[in-house]
Amino acid sequence: MCGIVGYIGPREAYPIIIEGLKRLEYRGYDSAGIALFDGSELKVCKTKGKVVDLEAKLYKEISSNGSIGIGHTRWATHGVPNDVNSHPHYSNSGNLVIIHNGIIENYDALRKELIKRGYVFKSDTDTEVLVNLIEEVKKQEDVKLGKAVQIALNQVVGAYAIAVFDKTQPNEIVIARLGSPLAIGVGKDEFFIASDASPFLEYTKNAIYLEDEEMAIIRLNKDIKIRKIKDDSLVDPYVQALKMNLDQIEKGGFEHFMLKEIYEQPRAITDTYRGRLNREEAIIKMSSVEDNMKKFLAADRIIIVACGTSWHAGLVAEYIFEDLARIPVEVEYASEFRYRNPIITEKDVVIAISQSGETADTLAAIKLAKSKGAFVFGVCNVVGSSIARETHAGAYTHAGPEIGVASTKAFTTQITVLSLIALRLARAKGTISSSDFRQHLLEFEMIPKKVEKALEADEHIKKIANIYKDVHNFLYLGRGYNFPVALEGALKLKEISYIHAEGYPAAEMKHGPIALIDENMPIVVIATKKGHYEKVVSNIQEIKSRKGKIIGIVTEGDVDVRALADHVIEVPETLEFLSPLLTTIPLQLLSYHIAVLLGKNVDQPRNLAKSVTVE
Ligand code: G6P
Repeated sequence: MCGIVGYIGPREAYPIIIEGLKRLEYRGYDSAGIALFDGSELKVCKTKGKVVDLEAKLYKEISSNGSIGIGHTRWATHGVPNDVNSHPHYSNSGNLVIIHNGIIENYDALRKELIKRGYVFKSDTDTEVLVNLIEEVKKQEDVKLGKAVQIALNQVVGAYAIAVFDKTQPNEIVIARLGSPLAIGVGKDEFFIASDASPFLEYTKNAIYLEDEEMAIIRLNKDIKIRKIKDDSLVDPYVQALKMNLDQIEKGGFEHFMLKEIYEQPRAITDTYRGRLNREEAIIKMSSVEDNMKKFLAADRIIIVACGTSWHAGLVAEYIFEDLARIPVEVEYASEFRYRNPIITEKDVVIAISQSGETADTLAAIKLAKSKGAFVFGVCNVVGSSIARETHAGAYTHAGPEIGVASTKAFTTQITVLSLIALRLARAKGTISSSDFRQHLLEFEMIPKKVEKALEADEHIKKIANIYKDVHNFLYLGRGYNFPVALEGALKLKEISYIHAEGYPAAEMKHGPIALIDENMPIVVIATKKGHYEKVVSNIQEIKSRKGKIIGIVTEGDVDVRALADHVIEVPETLEFLSPLLTTIPLQLLSYHIAVLLGKNVDQPRNLAKSVTVE
């Protein structure tokens, strides 16, 4: 979490860093700061709050500018969000400044040692410890900044992406990474540094992604030197040409990124299956699946690891894989999996799902699975991300950049990729007939149009949102394929409106949640025609007799639920395994409108971050 931006070159660093930080605010936004060097003076300005607050403060505090600088937007780990704990942090001499994304786990021991040597700390952060450790190494070993950073990092336990500037060597910035992403934009006589490429896309499309345990010394008008932190060996910089566009990461006329991303889903789903699903020839072609078909077919089971919304996509996939391809599936929270000594064998296929491709727990679960000999397949959105690189093979969801912290199009495109894989394996295993396969492909291709249709209920959903925006609790119920959708609907509401919500399998309601139902409790019930419809209708009857308020997500033309529910929201009819791609849409819109009506910051909900690179 936390966003890092840096610039060294002939331009003014300030606007590049500020605009870059705004694009990285999805990574954390409880405080922000900047350090600028104008050729003689090093100035630091930082504040609790968002990048706009930093801009306002900067306007008052810093008049001169400079063409070297580093900036940071924070998601607090050590130390509450306040001005003092914000980055950048100075070393005691005032010569060094650092910005950091990650956690230094042994910071307390290092801090105590530095205090013994006379160092004084102003903040509660692990980052201030690191910058002083670098300073101490520099002094003790009488080395330049790059070497001092390297020696210091070899004493550090934890995760980091850092950028360090030393005003006594003002022509360079030193950066390093372990566990947190860092990219270098390579321009003509200028370099950009950022947690992802979005801050420098308008200046250059050439990027170098630092690998774990690598550091780079970025010098003005010189080549970049990349080294391995551990053994000091030189690494050849690999410059990639990025395909991403700037307008892909802008709001495009929508009030919020989240709404834009909800509306992008027909296009995102199409992009995800394009080139993979060929209805005319009745084939699904995914090279990473074909290349590893033997491993998939020999698998005793598939273990899915993920966090948050991606975990919900994994749950949907469990139903799809088991139903279509008849392969046993277990879905695990990556954070639990990695710490419970799981039984993993070489006959397991592990699928890691992650929008960002940077989630620390998912990454650690992958490393664990690999160490036990399992074949690990990644489903990521961010191209070139750590998870995409760490897995043996994988398939990208081509959702495009997702900026809203609450995940929307990443979820539906993850389900799309996983459905394609399941269908391909089903065909290879012969667990689906060729006529059913054709039928499924035909229906798949109709999904984007049907998502568009589901989006037409937007205004109607807004009215429902207005009725329930002030309640304190919500319940979401679904069965089968739509049970994970109920979980996801509840998560969306919690994340952005801060209303307590729970998702439950509809039939489990009577084992607990039913006690909560009274005339104040809205219950969203996914009751589409396929999938235990009659049973769900009975559950609705049970809610009705306890005076709960029913919002039914139903198939177009539904009569039975309409007769019972307080409100219905229709989605087009489809095959059961594809229904989550449609039923999710009204739930995303419902949470969006409730949050907007409550005046919440939809794109940057409190305490959350888009990419969680700490445990
Ligand atoms: C954070 C985000 C969620 C996301 C989860 C997993 O909590 O706020 O939206 O689902 O991380 O992220 P990933 O990038 O691995 O899918």
